Amino acid sequence: MSNYIIRLEEKKDYREVENLVRESFWNVYRPGCSEHYVIHVLRDDPAFIPELDFVMEQDGKLIGQNMFMKTVIEADDGRTIDVLTMGPIGITPELKRKGYGKAILDYSLEKATEMGFGAVLFEGNIGFYSHCGFDYASKFGIRYHDLPEGEDASFFLCRELIQGYLDGITGVYQTPKGYYVEDSDVEEFDKAFPPKEKLKLPGQIFD
Ligand SMILES: CC(C)(COP(=O)(O)OP(=O)(O)OC[C@H]1O[C@@H](n2cnc3c(N)ncnc32)[C@H](O)[C@@H]1OP(=O)(O)O)[C@@H](O)C(=O)NCCC(=O)NCCS
Repeated sequence: MSNYIIRLEEKKDYREVENLVRESFWNVYRPGCSEHYVIHVLRDDPAFIPELDFVMEQDGKLIGQNMFMKTVIEADDGRTIDVLTMGPIGITPELKRKGYGKAILDYSLEKATEMGFGAVLFEGNIGFYSHCGFDYASKFGIRYHDLPEGEDASFFLCRELIQGYLDGITGVYQTPKGYYVEDSDVEEFDKAFPPKEKLKLPGQIFD
């Protein structure tokens, strides 16, 4: 890892960041990917937090990004608890597994903490996120929306930014609506990018 900076995303970066996210997620979770369109849509969502929309730059090139959205836990006692969700987060393919992902994540979590947010919850692989203080959300008593009881919830992670923020709370986390996009819209949006081959690969979790 060398001479990188982390800064807020600017309007002029939008297309480069979308391409970076496309490169980073392509064929990882499904043939092709939708995340470049997801960020395109999320930036206009009222839940989007521009002060927590980061890019990582090295030698004038963008090599990573991460963003946050506001959402809530609907607590079993009737309260609505404000929390953050996160992502997409991506590192350019040629620099994966060199520590850049952890660096931008640690930095952005520090900024979210400084802004006074209490907790971050989202879907991810504990293998990476445990390095940045995340644990299973079930350990905090938080359930994933629409997931039947008894189903594997190990993809659903949580980190408190204010220690004890979720003490005494049980409830259901809601993914912001903006993350759900139509396949046909993704297809249309993708046409503006350089052609890339969609492949079915082992380890993908969606068709
Ligand atoms: C996931 C991602 C952001 C991680 O960033 P990165 O720079 O590659 O990861 P780091 O080098 O900072 O990883 C730190 C540690 O986390 C763990 N880790 C990283 N990626 C992992 C993965 N995919 N699965 C399991 N553990 C992982 C490793 O222990 C790693 O240390 P090691 O390489 O010395 O073993 C990046 O690989 C990426 O962009 N992937 C494609 C898009 C994606 O999956 N985004 C996340 C969606 S939830």
